[in-house]
Amino acid sequence: MAGYSQEDIQRVREANDLVDVVGERIPLKQRGRDFWCCCPFHQEKTPSCKIDPNTQLWHCFGCGEGGDLFAFVMKLDEMEFPDAVRWLAERGHVEIVEQGGRGLPRGQKARLQEICKETASFYHMQLMRSKDPGAASARSYLSGRGLGGEIPRTWMLGYAPGRGALVSHLRQKGFSFQEMILANVAMGPREGQRGPTRDRFYERVMFPIFDARGECIAFGGRVIGQGEPKYLNSQETPIFHKSEVLYGLDKAKSAMTATGTAVVVEGYTDVIALHEAGVRNVVATLGTALTRQHIRALSRYASKRIVYLFDGDAAGQRAADRALQFIDYSMTPESGKSRVELLAVVLPDDLDPADFVSQRGAQELQSHLDAAQPLLQFGIDRRLERHDLGSAEGRSRALADALSVLAPIKDSLLAKDYAVQIAGRVRAREEDAMAQLARLEAPRVYEPQAAAPAPAPVQEERMRLADLPEAERNRMRCEREFLSLCAQNPDIAMEHAGAMAQLKWHSNLYGQVAGVLLQVLGEDPNATAALLVTRATEAYPQAASILTSAQSDAPNPQKLARFLAEELAIGDQEEAIEALQGQLNDPSLSPEESDLYFNLVVSMQAELKQMRQSHKPI
Ligand code: UTP
Ligand code: MN
Repeated sequence: MAGYSQEDIQRVREANDLVDVVGERIPLKQRGRDFWCCCPFHQEKTPSCKIDPNTQLWHCFGCGEGGDLFAFVMKLDEMEFPDAVRWLAERGHVEIVEQGGRGLPRGQKARLQEICKETASFYHMQLMRSKDPGAASARSYLSGRGLGGEIPRTWMLGYAPGRGALVSHLRQKGFSFQEMILANVAMGPREGQRGPTRDRFYERVMFPIFDARGECIAFGGRVIGQGEPKYLNSQETPIFHKSEVLYGLDKAKSAMTATGTAVVVEGYTDVIALHEAGVRNVVATLGTALTRQHIRALSRYASKRIVYLFDGDAAGQRAADRALQFIDYSMTPESGKSRVELLAVVLPDDLDPADFVSQRGAQELQSHLDAAQPLLQFGIDRRLERHDLGSAEGRSRALADALSVLAPIKDSLLAKDYAVQIAGRVRAREEDAMAQLARLEAPRVYEPQAAAPAPAPVQEERMRLADLPEAERNRMRCEREFLSLCAQNPDIAMEHAGAMAQLKWHSNLYGQVAGVLLQVLGEDPNATAALLVTRATEAYPQAASILTSAQSDAPNPQKLARFLAEELAIGDQEEAIEALQGQLNDPSLSPEESDLYFNLVVSMQAELKQMRQSHKPI
């Protein structure tokens, strides 16, 4: 990609909130979760351009323009992509490297680490010694949560007074404003404005974040008591990459090596509470989902098992569902890879690990950890739990839902074993479960046929659409909405990867775009909505507008996507039957062939009937 690595582009994206970038230039109105403005790309008096803070995508329902952060800057300022990246990198204080050029000079990285180290000890001194009433309330907050005694010293906890205290301290120590900003412990004035360089963290309890070697590279700051945001974390910097770093790894690595096991939790305080209770092989992600880089980092120390310990609350449940994306062939015995085993367990009673260990003790926690299930089993159980196994219909949905967990490894013996187990639990016939398993589409092995053939211009697509019969227009709308929902919610795309690959797309373009989405997700299952749109747009310029067009404020996009997927599958089935019936009338068919086709049509019609029956309007 023009001049910069995907990783740099991703960092630039993370450092710039689309809502801020747009809001600095155009007045915004908030409606519900989304923001709206008058579209800068055509004349209008009432806002029809939506900016979605969640997906970081924008779309104008008036003129059809849309895209991601970069597309917005490129269009508004008539910039080329690399210039937009550079401009946004500067705005977000992110160091990027032109490919072929050099990385951040070693000396500069060392400087940033020195800043973080100095900052951590400054905050720590504030917490331990300062007479400031804020520091006093930080101390009593921590001891009130059972984080007193030796804990602040062990974990270098601190207090950030804000009000420029850190900036002037670092200035005295000889650091430049530019360096403070680059280390993300201070903030400069906004682009094109004047003003002082300010502390980034104000009146917060500070958790320094260390890399595996124990060097401080970033911070998490918690409000004292109630407030928003609860945690403010360092943004990406040249020395801090969230998707690789794990909180507590420096302290947990020896216990991981000794036990062969790593435990991953969600919160800083969980890590501390568990370590202090004697469970020392515990780390946390930094407010993000676990990534493959994290898994790689952990498996350097934990040779046998990585256990996800999910909170018992709703957020923990969602995290648990996301973890299923790590299922792939490397888990199967026949892959021959003796890779680290992934296990998962959800805590009971809405408790997080810190609460659990304080209420019930380390031993009981350990017994939950020992009872963690292989990720596959865990996923299947979670899927089965979602359905009413008391009714025949519930059982048949449960069968399909649980089997879909196996899609990425459908051809393995392991998948067949699990399919038999699932069949037993929903009282289905093993042959039926096997047949359904065989019909699943494995999402990761999908290869789009062509890299990037010249796509039909969007104008042509629109004109054709108007001339189409009503039913065909509906089909196209349905495809577009489904595709757009998938792009805007990578979780939905993962759920429907099979459908995206199997659908008989009526629009060639949509089919090709679906292929790109699958490819990107295959390479990086954590791909964000914005990344999906960017990559699809690189291949097909019209994708930006198509993929941002879904009414993503639908109250339940999951349900809507499922409805659309069913709708499309029913359409495909109807057409397949029609085509067969056409062939049935062919006079040159032998009686045997004719019988065969006839039976096929009958069974496909039965299947269609089933599909229609289970297809509930939303
Ligand atoms: P939790 O809210 O479960 O954190 O979020 P916690 O550590 O248990 O918090 P308290 O102090 O006990 O209430 C889990 C993690 O998600 C990230 C942080 O990394 C946190 O530790 N997070 C949470 C944020 O980054 N920002 C937030 O506003 C909230
Ligand atoms: Mn928590």
